[in-house]
Amino acid sequence: MGMTLSEAKEKLEKYGQEHILKYYETLSGAEREALLAQIDATDMDILEACRHREELTRKGAITPLSVMQLSEIEKNRADFTDTGLKAIREGRVGAVLLAGGMGTRLGSDDPKGMYNVGVTRELYIFECLINNLTEVVRQAGNYIHLFVMTSDKNNDATVSFLREHGFFGYREDYVHFFKQEMAAATDYEGRIYLEEKGKMSTSPNGNGGWFISMKKAGLITFLQKEGIQWLNVFAVDNVLQRIADPCFIGATIQRSCVAGAKVVKKNAPDEKVGVICLEDGRPSVVEYYELTDEMMNARDADGEPAYNFGLILNYLFNTDELLRISEKNLPLHIVEKKIPCLDGEGNPVKPEQPNGYKYENLVLDMIHQMSGCLPFEVVREREFAPIKNKTGVDSVESARELLRKNGVEL
Ligand code: UTP
Repeated sequence: MGMTLSEAKEKLEKYGQEHILKYYETLSGAEREALLAQIDATDMDILEACRHREELTRKGAITPLSVMQLSEIEKNRADFTDTGLKAIREGRVGAVLLAGGMGTRLGSDDPKGMYNVGVTRELYIFECLINNLTEVVRQAGNYIHLFVMTSDKNNDATVSFLREHGFFGYREDYVHFFKQEMAAATDYEGRIYLEEKGKMSTSPNGNGGWFISMKKAGLITFLQKEGIQWLNVFAVDNVLQRIADPCFIGATIQRSCVAGAKVVKKNAPDEKVGVICLEDGRPSVVEYYELTDEMMNARDADGEPAYNFGLILNYLFNTDELLRISEKNLPLHIVEKKIPCLDGEGNPVKPEQPNGYKYENLVLDMIHQMSGCLPFEVVREREFAPIKNKTGVDSVESARELLRKNGVEL
């Protein structure tokens, strides 16, 4: 039995969200039922946190964490690569594509992976990623399971796009989709917006819930059955992304770390990337907007900036360690966003400017839950071409230039 109207009222009153039922009387029977079910399923406990947003990002004592740098990697490249390839050949490595985001900055209604970065031919973001993964498949001589996280908002479009394109040559039985959770989106006072008269505004709850969502989708049993011990988690928007990189995997295994994170040397002290560090003695990430002047100016023993390595959203996690932490809550991040909503007359609007908050968990916070993490330096020009915007920094334009430099025909 679903939630009754009076139960819904009671829940909404408790959280000061009674306005959600403003149009209830005008809805059809099916719409009413859908709204009651949504009210029932929505976590409203998290919303009050927007009143003390500053407290959410409070950090412990920050100290530098040493990074495995290029010179050390070069010395051991062959050895690390052998170890990584062995793990891949034994089927111990899987890859997780985080593609549940809305990509609002890019401004396309389609999933970001469907964006065509080609100029004289079609070359989609998904295609770039699958091409890169396929290189490793060829090198290892066997396929790697690829888990793709989508959300309610983009799942169907993503699945049908990849099917239509024959998974860009990847074996379909090695591709597994799962959906992430959604969270309510609110105005600056924490009041949930209505997206339609019978539907609250929701948005994907951040990329941090990926393992929990895999678990809910029954995929942990699959990992265990297949003997997958390592998951390489990566973002959809970096078209130069090296996936299941044998050298990175081998280095993490050889250093006996339960996690690894690819990092690049920052190109400016205030570059908009999170930096890897220690927090209260455990690996952690400080986001660019949390970086203090003191951290920006700190130097290590060699006179180099002490917090000089930014994350590129490419992590390796040991699955036993993931299971160990999977019951622990991740901190909440409250982010300003443009949220589609209804105006005073009940007409739908797509705001041009941010108008409220999204509630998210982030994968970078999992680093702090790990008992150890190897920061692994990669060459920025070869491995980091994120597409966040249409033009300018981290854009389609800058990514095209980097793809060309890496010999990819556009
Ligand atoms: P971004 O932080 O760039 O967020 O995601 P976004 O929502 O896609 O883009 P904007 O901010 O609206 O422009 C980094 C990675 O995390 C994934 C994205 O798909 C991307 O690969 N992600 C983000 C999710 O899988 N789920 C989310 O809820 C958010």
